[in-house]
Amino acid sequence: MGLVNLHAVLAKAQKQGYAVGAFNFVNMEMLQGIIDAAVEAHAPVILQTTEGAIEYAGIGYLAALARTAAATAGIDVVLHLDHGKHLETVVQALRHGYTSVMMDASDRLYDENLSLTQQVVRIAHMAGVSVEAELGRLKGIEDTVSVGDAQATLVDPAQAQDFVRQTGVDALAPAIGTSHGAFKFKGTPRLDFERLGQVAHLTGIPLVLHGASSVPAGIVNKANDYGAAIKGAAGVPDDIMRQAIRGGICKINTDTDLRLSFTAGIREELTKHPEGFDLRHILGPARDAVKAMVLNRIEVFGCAEKG
Ligand code: G3H
Ligand code: 13P
Ligand code: ZN
Repeated sequence: MGLVNLHAVLAKAQKQGYAVGAFNFVNMEMLQGIIDAAVEAHAPVILQTTEGAIEYAGIGYLAALARTAAATAGIDVVLHLDHGKHLETVVQALRHGYTSVMMDASDRLYDENLSLTQQVVRIAHMAGVSVEAELGRLKGIEDTVSVGDAQATLVDPAQAQDFVRQTGVDALAPAIGTSHGAFKFKGTPRLDFERLGQVAHLTGIPLVLHGASSVPAGIVNKANDYGAAIKGAAGVPDDIMRQAIRGGICKINTDTDLRLSFTAGIREELTKHPEGFDLRHILGPARDAVKAMVLNRIEVFGCAEKG
C-alpha cells in the first residue's frame, strides 16, 4: 500500500471520535521507531517533516524513507509537510510525493494567511493532496495576560469559520494554549476548551493540536540521570489530551516526546557502555525508545486498531 492523504484518515477519525498521531522525524531510526509502533498497534499514522528537517536531511531522503515504510506497513500512512512557511517548500513537497501539506502563515496578517492558503489549497487539491492551516499563535495560555491579549494570541472562532469557508482547508490548527517544546506550562496545565468547542462547532472540520507532547517526567528524569540538564519541563497531561480529542482534535502533533526519548536512549547507552562506538548499539536502543513512546501516545489518542 502507498501513502494516503490526510483528508481520508482524519474524516474517519472525526466520525469515530479518536485522534491520529502526527510524529516528526529527521532520520531513519526515528521513522522506524514510529512506523514499528504504528504497525504493532495497527494504528493509522502521520509522518511529518518540518522545513528544518528537510534542510537537515534532504527532502529526497525523507520522502524515500516514508515511501519505503508505507509500502510494506499495511496501515494508513500519510506523509505531511509540517509548518510549511514558504510556497516553494509546499511545491517541493508536492513534487516529492507528500500526501499532505501545512501552509503555516499564522505569523502573517490574516488576509495574507488567507490568500496564501487559498493558493496552496488550489494547487494541492489538484494533486489530491490535503492542506492544513493554522490560526492564532502557539504560546502558553498563561503568557496571555488579558482578554485582549488572549484574543490576539489564541484563535478567534469567528475568524476560523470565515477562514475555513474561504479556503476549503482539510484541517485547521487553532491556537488554544499549547506551545512547542518541553516547557509548556509554568503552573497548572490548562487549555482553552471553550474556544476549541466554538471552533469545532463553527468550522465542522477536523482540528489539529500542535505543541501536544506529554513530556513524561520518567523520560526527562532518565535523560537527566544520564547527563542531561533539563529543568522545569512540563507537557500536556493525558487527561487534558483526551478532553481535547472529545472537543474535536483529530490530529495530534508530537515531536518533543520523540526527541526526549531518542536522546535519553542514546545517553543511557553511552553512559552504560563508555567503551562502545558501534552506531547500531547506540541508535538501536534509541529507536526502541521512540517506539515505546509512540505506542504510549497511540493508546492515549485512541487510534489503535484503526489503521
Ligand atoms: O514544530 C515542530 C517542531 O517541534 C519544531 O521542529 O525544530 O524541526 O523546526 P523543527
Ligand atoms: P511538541 O513540541 O509539543 O512535540 O509539538 C510538535 C509540533 O507541534 C510539531 O508541529
Ligand atoms: Zn507545530
